[in-house]
Amino acid sequence: LYKLILGGNMEILAHRGASGTAPENTIAAFKKALIDGCDGFEFDVQQTKDGKIVVFHDWTLERTSNGQGHLRDYTLEELKKLDVGSWFSDKFKGEQIPTLEETLDIIPDDKLINIELKEEHSVERGTENKVLEIIKRYPNKNIIVSSFSHNLLKNLKELDSSIKVGILLESALVNLDKYIENLGFNIDGYHPSKSFLNQKDVNYLNSKNIDINVWTVNSSKDAKILKDMGVTRIITNFPKEIKK
Ligand code: G3P
Ligand code: MG
Repeated sequence: LYKLILGGNMEILAHRGASGTAPENTIAAFKKALIDGCDGFEFDVQQTKDGKIVVFHDWTLERTSNGQGHLRDYTLEELKKLDVGSWFSDKFKGEQIPTLEETLDIIPDDKLINIELKEEHSVERGTENKVLEIIKRYPNKNIIVSSFSHNLLKNLKELDSSIKVGILLESALVNLDKYIENLGFNIDGYHPSKSFLNQKDVNYLNSKNIDINVWTVNSSKDAKILKDMGVTRIITNFPKEIKK
């Protein structure tokens, strides 16, 4: 009600960094998002062959690097040799895949950090344990872990109930309230695709103090509609433009 009356203060998270104007999930994109005045960050993490956690979106290397095949088949040392900037623009030639630690190191403590745990082979490889171990080394950071795999989030909560988690959804649920009540663990965030959000769900989530973090919102028109609905944050490739 408070949010509805006062309009709320919707925050802006940079999706894979400022990925509309710099190569996604790179230090360059995170630095650009900081300059753009974002309130926080969303980025994707996966596990390398040698058990390190790196920031990268696709399972395969082709789209955003000069490598080939699955990321999980390479060690960190091998992945560090790849160029993840040139595909976007020559200006970013030589940009490397960042580790989770390298990324956390450059984000100020007052920014929200949304770490998205990618699901492919993550449960059987214990990726959530490794991510948790790293997060614990950054007690001053404001972190929420999201995933399309709600099983991964359940495992995380069992390992550490104080960790903040958000459920990612690619489509609408018939009974969102029942789904959330039956999850078996508490959630801090609901992360829907922008196409599948309705006012009833927004009102329910706000009444439960569950943050609503919507992706991927790249138009000011959509951002305005979502703000008026009462969402907490939007996740965008263009933080500067949307902030304006
Ligand atoms: O976390 C929001 C969004 O990033 C989820 O989808 O594929 O862009 O990682 P994707
Ligand atoms: Mg993501």
